[in-house]
Amino acid sequence: MLPVGKPGKRNGPVTAHRIVFANEKGGTGKSTTAVHVAIALAYQGANVACIDLDPRQRTLYRYLENRMETERKREISLPGARFAVYDGDDVNELDDMAEQIAQGYDFLVFDTPGRDDAFARHVATTADTLVTPLNDSFVDFDLLGQVESETFKVKKLSFYAEVMWEARKKRGLKTIAEGRRDLDWVVVRNRVQHVEARNMRRIDGALQELSKRAGFRIAAGLSERVIFRELFPSGLTLLDKGHLGDLGTSHLVARQELRGLVAGLKLPMPSRGQTELALAAAT
Ligand SMILES: Nc1ncnc2c1ncn2[C@@H]1O[C@H](COP(=O)(O)OP(=O)(O)OP(=O)(O)O)[C@@H](O)[C@H]1O
Ligand SMILES: [Mg+2]
Repeated sequence: MLPVGKPGKRNGPVTAHRIVFANEKGGTGKSTTAVHVAIALAYQGANVACIDLDPRQRTLYRYLENRMETERKREISLPGARFAVYDGDDVNELDDMAEQIAQGYDFLVFDTPGRDDAFARHVATTADTLVTPLNDSFVDFDLLGQVESETFKVKKLSFYAEVMWEARKKRGLKTIAEGRRDLDWVVVRNRVQHVEARNMRRIDGALQELSKRAGFRIAAGLSERVIFRELFPSGLTLLDKGHLGDLGTSHLVARQELRGLVAGLKLPMPSRGQTELALAAAT
């Protein structure tokens, strides 16, 4: 399927920084986080392209489609992204699509399905930044590591940490062979509920311990907020101030959280984005 959005203006080698949102567990916030990060980067002046690797759900694709529809209906213009869904069955074809869509772009964002998927595994080996959103629950944690029932100490790594370990090994070879950046694996806690202080502390402790063994770092993610469930039909994000109507009255803290999340990913911003970055941060 052809990408939606304009081709990039710059020619030459594709240098887009690849951000892959991945977790085999379903419903951990991959698509929600991916869209918000993509639009936050666009607000900072970056050119962002996205590929949705879940041809069944197409959450990211449909989110961005809804966003375009809102722009059309309301006759407004919003920062956005070029986007496509990959629904084929050939890794080389996916690589070609990624090259093509990211030509002239600063970032290429992949959203992957919440299940074991060959294409998700493949793009993990091509990532510069790999983001794994995790709900604040030991059910989600179990994919990464198993904990003792009494002490919540980590007993051993689980299969998904091992899948990522393999991906990192392959990615490491590319780093050397192709002179790429090192892969940065970031686990992002999503749907954090601050009323659950004891659970938060336990998960925090177990994650800290696991991060050293599995080789990821931890970034602060988004809290549990109803607004994230309500934005999809309009394709709007927390950052689209002035367009959110009833939804947008009191989300200052949520926006700060989102900015904190983007900052925590430590992405390389294009220099032309600095002015917009400063403007965005000031508002
Ligand atoms: N911070 C949040 N607060 C409240 N609801 C959230 C939050 N993040 C995600 N959700 C909701 O949780 C559900 C799952 O989120 P999302 O679709 O982003 O997860 P996913 O990991 O992409 O799922 P899948 O594995 O099925 O692709 C959605 O209904 C979404 O609106
Ligand atoms: Mg999804």
